[in-house]
Amino acid sequence: MKKVITYGTFDLLHWGHVNLLKRARELGDYLIVGLSSDEFNKIKHKQSFHKYEERRLILEAIRYVDEVIPEDNWTQKEEDIKKYSIDTFVMGSDWENEFDELSELCEVKYLKRTDGISTSQIKEDLSN
Ligand code: CTP
Repeated sequence: MKKVITYGTFDLLHWGHVNLLKRARELGDYLIVGLSSDEFNKIKHKQSFHKYEERRLILEAIRYVDEVIPEDNWTQKEEDIKKYSIDTFVMGSDWENEFDELSELCEVKYLKRTDGISTSQIKEDLSN
């Protein structure tokens, strides 16, 4: 079984997220999402609209997602890849080259972001 992992905050889930999750899942047989915890978002100076448990509930309802785990810090990815015997690590192209060092542990792929949508954009549009 080929296992894939990806990470993010996935707040106000939108079609750009779904496109990413669908393509990530197609790279293997089992997709794990490392979902930023509220504490980790604070470290990243990011404030999500939905709390961790709410974001998890929504992500778990997506057919391409097999498992959701919390991401609590920057150094966790390496441990997760070993712990869950990950074959492929996936991130959107906004993270291009940022995680290349993980290629010592598994395949690393950056998938093109979907144009024209982001959580920040939704928040901005709604506030206008
Ligand atoms: N993503 C994507 N296409 C988009 C938006 C996000 O492929 N239009 C991907 C990101 O590249 C990342 C994952 O979805 O791999 C989770 O991204 P996240 O940062 O949670 O979503 P954004 O919409 O980018 O949120 P923000 O605007 O707060 O940065």
